[in-house]
Amino acid sequence: MNLANDERFITSIQNVVPRVPRATRRPPGHYDPPEHGEYRAAIDPIFRRVNLRAHEESFQASATTLIAAMLERGHADAVQDLAAPFVVDCFASLLGVSADLAHHIRTVGVRYTFAIQDMDEQVVGECSAELYVIAENVYRARLSQRPDPSTDLVASLHAAALDPNTAITETTAIATVRQLIVAGMGAPQAVIGSSIAHLALDQSLQAYLRTHPEELPAAIEELLRLHSPYRVFARTASEDVVVHGRLVREGEPVAMLFPSGNRDGRVFEDPDVFKLNRKGNSHLAFGRGPHKCPAAAMGRREIAIALRTLLESTETFELSGDIKMMNWLEYGPRSVPLSLVPRETPEFR
Ligand code: HEM
Repeated sequence: MNLANDERFITSIQNVVPRVPRATRRPPGHYDPPEHGEYRAAIDPIFRRVNLRAHEESFQASATTLIAAMLERGHADAVQDLAAPFVVDCFASLLGVSADLAHHIRTVGVRYTFAIQDMDEQVVGECSAELYVIAENVYRARLSQRPDPSTDLVASLHAAALDPNTAITETTAIATVRQLIVAGMGAPQAVIGSSIAHLALDQSLQAYLRTHPEELPAAIEELLRLHSPYRVFARTASEDVVVHGRLVREGEPVAMLFPSGNRDGRVFEDPDVFKLNRKGNSHLAFGRGPHKCPAAAMGRREIAIALRTLLESTETFELSGDIKMMNWLEYGPRSVPLSLVPRETPEFR
């Protein structure tokens, strides 16, 4: 049974465990089909590969600049100096906001996620309210530039809000931007940090990918499987359901542990081992069903650009201290200290 793709399990009650106190439901993550589908119809086309191409240059420029600064020092933290600022720059490019505003968004977003880890309801409430103000400012500022609804996230949501055939309103469109702010930064940061740590610990894989860049997409799928950045999402049973012989009563929450599913030995042979070109690598890193990540293509591009640029700019990089991990919700490092040896002549670009 696939809980993520079964309409008897809904997300409108809670989509994480433990439940995060919240004043309002935000689309699309906290909405159920069929209304949920209206938001996805507005969001999904923006993340098509063809639309993401317009952002490639700025994604690349960010990675090149950040990695050049790391190389100049010879040592760096893969999360603080690369993964975290890089995903902010990528998100700023997607939203069409200035890097300064994106960094402000990130400061509030980080405070918010740590308050959630600490279950500090007061700070969660304060940050959440501030993120709403930011989302509304982003929404209004972006619309004043009259962007194209077929390629711009805010314009697409705005067009849907004006469409009388959808239940989307300006308020819920802004709430969607608010949710994207949090969803768009945490996961790619975590998985880029984990992937760099993995390559620092596996020098032969690192050397192999440096000389075989064409294998990087397959390596990324295996890194996503092994280091899925979301520990858990939740659904609630809308009626009594028997799951693998166990009764789940109506109203009970069920945790979906995607990282655990990705290491299920019944599905993946030698599940804890990195296998390049693993056959049938249908991992769950981006989820399943109606809530499957709309931005999987963007996430994959972010990881690819960060890793490829790091590999091609270095002779080698290795750990220079202890990895520190995050507590919750994401699974990934908060610090990966590295020493780096720059490459004299990049061979592939
Ligand atoms: C490697 C990077 C990423 C990973 C592994 C990832 C993973 C996921 C997963 C597992 C879900 C499913 C949640 C559920 O089942 O309830 C999800 C949903 C979502 N993700 Fe991502 N994500 C990534 C990047 C992004 C980015 C870059 C954005 C936005 C710019 C984004 C926006 C969203 C949104 C809005 C949802 C909610 C979709 C819905 O409920 O319909 N994600 N993501």
